[in-house]
Amino acid sequence: MFTDINIAEDLYYVGSSDRRLERFENAYPVPDGMSYNSYLICDTDATVLMDAVDKSVSKAFLESLKRVLGTRSLDYIVIQHMEPDHSATAKQVLELYPNACVVASQRALDMLVAFNDIKLANVRAIKEGDVLKTARHELCFIAAPMVHWPEVMVTYDKCTGTLFSADAFGTFGASSGNLFADESDFDMDEARRYYFNIVGKYGVQVQSLLKKASGLDIRMLCPLHGPIWRENIASYVEKYSIWSSYQSEKDSVLIVYGSIYGNTEQAALALAALLAKRNVKGIEIYDSSKTDLSVLLSKCFSFKAIAFASSSYNAGLFTSMETLLLDLKAHNLQNKTIALIENGSWAPSSGRCMKEILDSMKSMTYVCPMLSIRSSLKECQMEELEAMADSLAQSVLP
Ligand code: FEO
Repeated sequence: MFTDINIAEDLYYVGSSDRRLERFENAYPVPDGMSYNSYLICDTDATVLMDAVDKSVSKAFLESLKRVLGTRSLDYIVIQHMEPDHSATAKQVLELYPNACVVASQRALDMLVAFNDIKLANVRAIKEGDVLKTARHELCFIAAPMVHWPEVMVTYDKCTGTLFSADAFGTFGASSGNLFADESDFDMDEARRYYFNIVGKYGVQVQSLLKKASGLDIRMLCPLHGPIWRENIASYVEKYSIWSSYQSEKDSVLIVYGSIYGNTEQAALALAALLAKRNVKGIEIYDSSKTDLSVLLSKCFSFKAIAFASSSYNAGLFTSMETLLLDLKAHNLQNKTIALIENGSWAPSSGRCMKEILDSMKSMTYVCPMLSIRSSLKECQMEELEAMADSLAQSVLP
């Protein structure tokens, strides 16, 4: 049960993981569970807790906290991010340590009261540039609005070079016990899925945080989810720079199809074969009804070119494809090369519907006319499909 670990001088990990959770935020599948990180600074003159945890791991968290503090009291609890996966247990912490001062942005303090219906007796409202000093540590607060909620602050400990980065640089998955990213195989695909689904919409705000962080000597990165980084930090920051500026990582073609009886799927497979014949490597193809939305979203952000193929449905768009495109729009997908295949037996409508949604996104380039098929792809339309493959290949090949 005791999961606390000393991770640096004066610094302890007191978080824990929920391995039973099916969906994080009741939305994103987490087959490997979810970690909720919390860090405790035990300086000679003061103790500072950096965020609390989700209620699902309250028992382990509170036991670790009490165990590390021993006979000492808790002097400060910093709430960097008020979302309940990090603050739901703050009330219990304050019941145990009623003299602790709650340090947070005014907005976070207001939210903490609203969510928990509590009276805060001892608070310190902070803003960017404020500093909390202890004997050996100097915690500098940096505003990071919308990474991932509006009240977020991140914290840089000037003395140790530690950036407590809130949700930024987090990932899905429970802790293996090895707390550092360099101690096990870090799954960048899961980090990417986490990034685009959780903060992908807020690229501009992430860029702003990266700009502020670029002036800091970061020697350790302590996010609220996932492993701690102390090696190759620049490589992870570079990923965030690419992701937040909506650059594609894969110069290849992603094909996503929504198919009822398999005929649209056959057209998608035919396109994939034609692309392969044109030497396009790394093609990926997914069924929008089968692959989880969060995976498809992450894939769409990664690829340079995307072909969407969909059946028509109820004089509109097949439901799983419609859900995907609306989610992509909500997350600000942009800068993509697009090709469209519609299918409809008596009144094809999916192409128009896909285009309407895609047209409302930024910097979408259609490389060729839409291919419209009736019930199934016919031999006489292969020329059009070949032309589509030519255009897509041209857009991704060097
Ligand atoms: Fe991990 Fe936005 O909470």
